[in-house]
Amino acid sequence: METILNIKEVSKHYQSAGSSLTILDRINFSIQKGSTVAITGPSGSGKTTLLGLCAGLDRTSDGSVELNGISLDQLSEDQRAAVRNRYVGFIFQNFQLLPTLTALENIMVPLELRGEKNIRPRALELLDKVGLSARADHYPVQLSGGEQQRISLARAFSNTPAILFADEPTGNLDGETSEKVIKLLFDLNKEAGTTLIIVTHDLELAGRTDRIIRLKGGVIIGDERKIYA
Ligand SMILES: Nc1ncnc2c1ncn2[C@@H]1O[C@H](COP(=O)(O)OP(=O)(O)OP(=O)(O)O)[C@@H](O)[C@H]1O
Ligand SMILES: [Mg+2]
Repeated sequence: METILNIKEVSKHYQSAGSSLTILDRINFSIQKGSTVAITGPSGSGKTTLLGLCAGLDRTSDGSVELNGISLDQLSEDQRAAVRNRYVGFIFQNFQLLPTLTALENIMVPLELRGEKNIRPRALELLDKVGLSARADHYPVQLSGGEQQRISLARAFSNTPAILFADEPTGNLDGETSEKVIKLLFDLNKEAGTTLIIVTHDLELAGRTDRIIRLKGGVIIGDERKIYA
């Protein structure tokens, strides 16, 4: 089996008021291409920080991150952005939609960055998939939390990423919408072979993945793989 993400001895420290705070402490794991993984753990355990490091959004204090065979450790900010645009989709816990762009334009951003042509039909199709065709011209402030989350999901899907990181993708959704979003994620995994790494408190969602990694206080306290009969 091919590895898509390899994390070795990864630590993250922050300096605050002259002392160093350890947020992640020597994390190790590797993820197989095409697999689905849940990361769970209490609030403040380092889940969002870990996701940011894995996706190349942030730099480690120590250790190495290899994404799709590319070591991110020595890359500049621009080089990491290029790797992200090519291979990574990211659904942020706080959405991070661009406030000056409409819903449709937000979805088009990754495609524009890639210099793709005819991106509008693709963006409209994604908008329809998340059930928000009627909101194409709305700005993020005009959307509810759950709607912003779905636009963020459509944006993350737009470049059919090799690996998709989702930080609590169903955190703001009602049961029915949540079910739709989960289906979209797993369909992408099945149809495009996209590797899914999902941070979630939802035990039912975690239970549908191949593997559950548990974090607590910045260390891994559990790593369970499903055994298929
Ligand atoms: N830029 C920063 N500077 C200092 N401390 C930070 C910074 N970013 C995060 N932290 C701290 O790192 C710890 C882990 O944060 P993180 O956001 O990764 O947690 P989490 O597991 O995602 O929590 P939640 O479930 O609430 O989203 C927290 O204690 C947080 O205060
Ligand atoms: Mg978080």
